[in-house]
Amino acid sequence: MSTVYLNGTFLPASEAKISPMDRGFLFGDGIYEVIPSYGGRFVGFGAHIERMQSGLSELAIQPDLTDEQWHAIASKLLDENRSELGENIAIYIQVSRGADSKRGHAFPANITPTVFAFAMPIAPAPQADKNSVTTFSVITAPDLRWQRCHIKSTSLLGNVLHFQQSKNAGADEILLLDRDGNLTEGAAVNVFIVKDGIIATPPLSNKLLPGITRKLLLAILAEHSNFSVQQRDISEAEVLSADEIWLTSSSKEIAPVIKINGKPVGNGKVGDVWLQVQQLFTQYKFDY
Ligand code: PDD
Repeated sequence: MSTVYLNGTFLPASEAKISPMDRGFLFGDGIYEVIPSYGGRFVGFGAHIERMQSGLSELAIQPDLTDEQWHAIASKLLDENRSELGENIAIYIQVSRGADSKRGHAFPANITPTVFAFAMPIAPAPQADKNSVTTFSVITAPDLRWQRCHIKSTSLLGNVLHFQQSKNAGADEILLLDRDGNLTEGAAVNVFIVKDGIIATPPLSNKLLPGITRKLLLAILAEHSNFSVQQRDISEAEVLSADEIWLTSSSKEIAPVIKINGKPVGNGKVGDVWLQVQQLFTQYKFDY
C-alpha cells in the first residue's frame, strides 16, 4: 500500500480523504507538479518548485510550506515508496485553494489550501538508442484551450479533450496550433523541431506551459553543445516539413515523433540530432 502526503500527514493512500467541497474538485481551482526521479535522484527539482510557486502566487493560493519543506515531503515519499514502486518514480504534488462550506466562484476568505502529494511509477528514462526508444505518432489541430496555458492548473479538461482527440485519431499526441497557425505545444508535452540541423521551439508565452524538460534541455544545449537553437514562432508548414520533431516532458524526456497526420516525419526514422541531444540530456540532466 503506497504512502501519500495529505495536509501535513504521511498516511496510507486508502486513508487519505478530501472533502467533496474542495475547490480542486468543484472548480479545478489548483496547481499541480510532476517531478521525475531516477534511482532516488530528482531531475530539475528546484525548477519544478519554482514553477509551482509562481503558479500558486498567480492564483493567490498560499500554502504554508517553504522550499525546504517541499523537498522534505518529496524525499520522504520517494523513500517510503521506492521498495514498492521501483527506481523510476515521479512525485505528483497538487495544491488546491481548499474547501469551503458553500459553493461560490469568488475566492473564499480564510480557507486553508489542500496539499496532496503521492509517488507514481514512470517509464524508465529513455536511452540514447535509436532502436529501443519509444517513438510517437501525432496529429495537428487548432488549440482550443484557454489563454492561461502557462499556469500548470489542475483544470486540465482542455488538455484531456485534446489528448483524447489524438487517441481517437489513432495517434499518441497532438500538436496544437494557435489562431495564427503557429505551434503552441502538445496536450501534455512541449515540442521541438529540427530543420537542416537547426533546433527550434516556440517561445514562452501564455499559450504554453514553461516545461521544465524544455528549460533543462535549452540550458544543456547552450552549455554543452554547438547546436544552433531558436525560440521563435513555428508555422504549421514548418512543423509538417521538419526533419525531426521531438516531444518533451518530465515523464518522456525527449521523445522522437516519426509520424505526423499519417505521414512520415523527415525520412520516417528516429533522427541523428535526437540521438546526440538525448545523449547530452542523459549525461547532464541531474546537474540543474
Ligand atoms: N505534463 N505542456 C503541457 C501541457 C504539459 O502538461 C506538460 C507536462 C508539459 C511538459 O512540462 P515538463 O517538462 O515540466 O514536464 C508541457 C505532465 C508531465 C503531466 O501533466 O503529467
